Amino acid sequence: MTVPERRHDDPGEPRLEVRVVDSPADMRQVIAIRTVVFIDEQHLTDNVDRDPYDQGAGAVVVLAYLDGEPVGTGRLHVWRGQGQIAWVAVLRPHRGRGVGREIMEALLDAAADLGAERVTLSAQTHAIEFYRLLGFAPVGDLFIMGNIEHITMVRDLAA
Ligand code: COA
Repeated sequence: MTVPERRHDDPGEPRLEVRVVDSPADMRQVIAIRTVVFIDEQHLTDNVDRDPYDQGAGAVVVLAYLDGEPVGTGRLHVWRGQGQIAWVAVLRPHRGRGVGREIMEALLDAAADLGAERVTLSAQTHAIEFYRLLGFAPVGDLFIMGNIEHITMVRDLAA
């Protein structure tokens, strides 16, 4: 699976790139970022490296780099036209600089390439606005996962 590499090269700004993970070394960087954010910071889970949907035909994992340093990640899985995004994380010192948005745009491009008609995710409620700005809408009730309040959010791609 390939998605066009996304790059920002504004003068004076750190160079932002999002690339699809294609090696065990890249995947180790992904796991390192998930560990810092979802284990050490959020205490959401102690399992960040045994997700079966990280691999296989419908899986796309991306890494975001600022000036060549891996600072963020996210994962798409598409099955029968339904996309699921998970594990979206940016290291705390690099938040608020558009890295999360670039990760999401890359995953949404990949979802369209893989024929997804809609994309669903479980949003931590603090991130609802982040996902709303990317075209997602909340559906259903709040639920608790890993002691953190979540809500399902959906974006149709066909429209
Ligand atoms: N609340 C409201 N708006 C937010 C927001 C928040 N928590 N986080 C980002 N935004 C907005 C930004 O202001 C920006 O708006 P703009 O386009 O008007 O400028 C837009 O969303 C994009 O923000 P960006 O800088 O790309 O986000 P980020 O790189 O800081 O990444 C997260 C956002 C959620 C991925 C990041 O905060 C993070 O990794 N958090 C910890 C892990 C986590 O909770 N992941 C989500 C699991 S569901």
